[in-house]
Amino acid sequence: MATMQLQEILFSQGFGTRRVCAGLIQQGFVAVAGEIPTDPAMEFVADGLHFKVQGTAWQYHEKAYLMLHKPAGYECSQKPSTYPSIYTLLPSPIRQRGGGAAAGVQAVGRLDQDTTGLLLLSDDGKFIHRMSSPKHHVPKVYEVTAKHAVEDKQVQKLLIGVVLDDDPKPVRAAACEKTGDNTLSLTLTEGKYHQVKRMIAAVGNRVEGEGGVGGLHRSRIGALALPDDLKVGQWRWLTAGDLAAISS
Ligand code: URA
Repeated sequence: MATMQLQEILFSQGFGTRRVCAGLIQQGFVAVAGEIPTDPAMEFVADGLHFKVQGTAWQYHEKAYLMLHKPAGYECSQKPSTYPSIYTLLPSPIRQRGGGAAAGVQAVGRLDQDTTGLLLLSDDGKFIHRMSSPKHHVPKVYEVTAKHAVEDKQVQKLLIGVVLDDDPKPVRAAACEKTGDNTLSLTLTEGKYHQVKRMIAAVGNRVEGEGGVGGLHRSRIGALALPDDLKVGQWRWLTAGDLAAISS
């Protein structure tokens, strides 16, 4: 198996410039398998390597694939205009990975500031493209709370197709079912701007949660559901099983 210098491993994982990474190692801030190697050029098999930097445990990932339980009141932008950025919810190395102008992970598509739920992030450009490309039709499930009672005919219209203001071609839900008086579950395979909100408006209702806030939650992408134990604002690495679930 190919090996890498420890300073290169740290650099690739977002722990600062090569010089900073070498300094961390020389000053004894890095532990590998209970040892404190102080030579930045020492070689390790990077794949799957567990190490600690200033007491915090990390594992080497060649590419980063994460899920975040997005809270309301956060923008999916690196340069947010009004609300804090979702990227502030991630530890600094995840935001610095790779270094340079394109450092860190990027969200796979965007959720509105007031939308909650499952958001994927990665630094693998091909993966981001594949997951967000309309050609791949990855189904995304949204739990909607509506201002007015959900009528059966609204569900029917969403399934048949509605016309939005920017395209004469109708868009339709791949699946839609009423889940309560004012709630429905909607599956989309495209990701147009504000698509759920505009589709619900097009059938004469409005996405609106209790107290007039929010009302939209993404619960699933492909076969990957937002785990119950991933609390609002928390993130975790995707497992090989998660990756298979979103690609299947
Ligand atoms: N559709 C919307 O209207 N908003 C989102 O955040 C996601 C899908």
